[in-house]
Amino acid sequence: MNVVRRRVEVMHGVNLDQLGRRDPTHYGTLTLAELERQISAAAEELDLGVRFFHTNHEGEFVEHLHRLAGLADAIVLNPGAWTHYSYAIRDALELTGLPAVEVHLSDVDAREPWRRQSVITELCLARVAGKGPEGYRDALERLRAELGFVGGA
Ligand code: DQA
Repeated sequence: MNVVRRRVEVMHGVNLDQLGRRDPTHYGTLTLAELERQISAAAEELDLGVRFFHTNHEGEFVEHLHRLAGLADAIVLNPGAWTHYSYAIRDALELTGLPAVEVHLSDVDAREPWRRQSVITELCLARVAGKGPEGYRDALERLRAELGFVGGA
């Protein structure tokens, strides 16, 4: 039987395209392309389909969320600094009705006080922070458990 894999949309927000140039103590040294390769490898092991989206424009992030219903089964999102204040992204995430996990490469709770605030956490199944690229694997595992496993080609 041909079974369609669960589809997870991985969304990167503002400044994440600058990975590799950002402070390595918080963000490590991987570029976004290298990070996406690691996420793809983890998704492959977990038998999940994965698609990536990045933008530095808040409205584009919002519009991408608007389009996701029916195209994805779940979302992994790291909105970067928008996490801390964008009610527009919060409302668009809610509109998707999809299970989501919030990821941050750095340990946001151990940095400046304003980074402790997240306007999306209450909508997410989980929040993973401070685990670097491994955090994305944790997020995929959490979503796989939530969705129920459907493997296959
Ligand atoms: C980040 C943490 C945010 O505070 C910051 O603005 C980012 C990246 C992270 O992945 O650790 O751009 O979301």
